[in-house]
Amino acid sequence: MRICFATNNRYKVNEIKAMLPTSVEIVSLAEIGCEEELAEDQNTLEGNSHQKAEYVYKKYGIPCFADDTGLEVFALDGEPGVYSARYAGVQRDNMANIQLLLEKLKDKDNRMAQFRTVITLINPSGKVKQFEGVVKGTILTEMKGTEGFGYDPVFAPKGYQQTFAEMSSDQKNAISHRGIAIRKLVDFLSKQKQE
Ligand code: IMP
Repeated sequence: MRICFATNNRYKVNEIKAMLPTSVEIVSLAEIGCEEELAEDQNTLEGNSHQKAEYVYKKYGIPCFADDTGLEVFALDGEPGVYSARYAGVQRDNMANIQLLLEKLKDKDNRMAQFRTVITLINPSGKVKQFEGVVKGTILTEMKGTEGFGYDPVFAPKGYQQTFAEMSSDQKNAISHRGIAIRKLVDFLSKQKQE
């Protein structure tokens, strides 16, 4: 089966390629000639990942999957959620996003949060299936660590002293939201009969 991963993030493409059996060939957006930016203007992670996968499936006629992730902070009613990348503005500045988050949590006792990833897969027949990965944790009061990206320096997963930014990528992938969602997708694709 040949399937497109609707992302421009080469790191994500390689990560999943390494996990799949050889019967599943992953191709990138560039490899199918898709150079336009994919719209993601829905107000849920489910909606955004579906929007991206559906666009590619309909325009390029290839089975496809897409992901969307958000940090959901309980004391902020799930903010920044689907707006995680552009929390502090359209410039998508990780540092500014973290500063804004710490500012909003300044007077809050409850610092519980979760990362949530939703992957939408559209099969060759057009059937839609979604996979979710969640990791719970807490938001620290200051940044720790230099690995990873996004909100990693202030997110400590439940049961760990370190933040995601203090873990190797292997350690993080073993417990992360995206790792969990990807493993569910890989498991599903590995069980599909070859098409
Ligand atoms: P995306 O859907 O993977 O592009 O993620 C959207 C935004 O969520 C990113 O720009 C980051 O701000 C945040 N984010 C997603 N995954 C992670 C992660 O693993 N660690 C920290 N922040 C993340």
